Amino acid sequence: MPAELKRTYGTRAATRPLLPSSPTSELTTPPPPKRKRPFTDRPTEQNTPTKKARRTLKAEPKLKAGDKLKGNSKQPKLTQLHFSLDTPTLRTCPLCDLSYTRGAPDDEALHKAHCARVQRGLEWGKEEQREAVKAGVEELQSNVKLRNGARGRVICFRPDIGGKIAAKLAVLLETIRLALSSPPLSPAVLRRSKIYLFLLATPGISSTREKIVGCVVAQRISTAMAIARPAEVSAALSSPSSSQTQPSETITSSQSTLSSSQDSSESSAVPVTLLPVDSSTNLYVHPQPLPTPMGIPRLFVSSEHRRLGIASRLLTAAAETFILGCPLSPARGDVAFTQPTGAGKAVLEAWGKGGVRIYEEEGNI
Ligand SMILES: CC(C)(COP(=O)(O)OP(=O)(O)OC[C@H]1O[C@@H](n2cnc3c(N)ncnc32)[C@H](O)[C@@H]1OP(=O)(O)O)[C@@H](O)C(=O)NCCC(=O)NCCS
Ligand SMILES: [Zn+2]
Repeated sequence: MPAELKRTYGTRAATRPLLPSSPTSELTTPPPPKRKRPFTDRPTEQNTPTKKARRTLKAEPKLKAGDKLKGNSKQPKLTQLHFSLDTPTLRTCPLCDLSYTRGAPDDEALHKAHCARVQRGLEWGKEEQREAVKAGVEELQSNVKLRNGARGRVICFRPDIGGKIAAKLAVLLETIRLALSSPPLSPAVLRRSKIYLFLLATPGISSTREKIVGCVVAQRISTAMAIARPAEVSAALSSPSSSQTQPSETITSSQSTLSSSQDSSESSAVPVTLLPVDSSTNLYVHPQPLPTPMGIPRLFVSSEHRRLGIASRLLTAAAETFILGCPLSPARGDVAFTQPTGAGKAVLEAWGKGGVRIYEEEGNI
């Protein structure tokens, strides 16, 4: 049983430290604070780019001497604000969640590139395709038709592939890392993983171009924990012994397990001990480790292509092919997620039909 359930992603809390936009190397940058998005955090509509008034220092109209406030006879009390124009303005982009220094050319450029990747995906060019054939990238599904009529295909390869594809994968994983504010996937995890990509075809005038718009990393694991049903969570939370041990962000199992004592109600004839994973999404697990072959440490679909079934399709492809000759079933408990985001939890519930488990990506090596 894990002594402590580590978080993979973190909450988008107002107080969280801002993510720097300029890390140039994954190797030298310490992992950012682990955080997780609440369930309601990113409905698809909010991820659709909308034109917003640019926030600039000049955005507020200045009152000149003698100006009158329209439609309000009461003069509000004006406060003199002091700010230094030398202070760099840190801005958090609502579309990609990256914080960067406005006005710093390097930061602006870095943000622009990252933001485009988060929304529209990464180019899968001719060179990658040429190498794919040689490197043994498998095409698992071709000419897949999505809900909106667009077409694409599913490919799969191991992360130790090398060449142009490895370079592209590094950018993709860094994009996902920044988007999820998660730590980088360790080499040990990657060694036990397979990468599944959804390539969307964009027909052009002369040729069809492809973009990586979805990614699932599937990791070989040994054990995971079963997710508690809502009734079990309510029973555990309502038991008297749980009143002093409310779930918190990251706590050890000894501090955090919720127990429904046998005398608390007739329904708790069998004691229920649960471990909180994320109280904001009411996600609790039974701490007993159960044999589980496949874990999903990362799952990402670019924001303009969400709710088209891409994540589910990639997960199904992973479950069917991860272990050669042994198709896995999420409903049977063969698949686990690391601590899921709100949208991730929605996918695991919809796709996993109640059988998906939870595991620690670094605790399963
Ligand atoms: C989570 C994510 C990968 C889902 O990708 P997707 O391709 O949009 O997922 P699917 O279209 O396969 O969704 C399957 C089902 O999951 C549920 N679902 C997915 N996203 C949801 C959301 N934001 N809110 C509510 N339900 C959602 C729905 O039931 C959906 O079926 P429906 O569209 O027919 O209603 C994508 O939103 C994403 O990349 N988010 C940011 C990164 C992230 O949170 N990753 C998860 C880490 S655990
Ligand atoms: Zn952005």
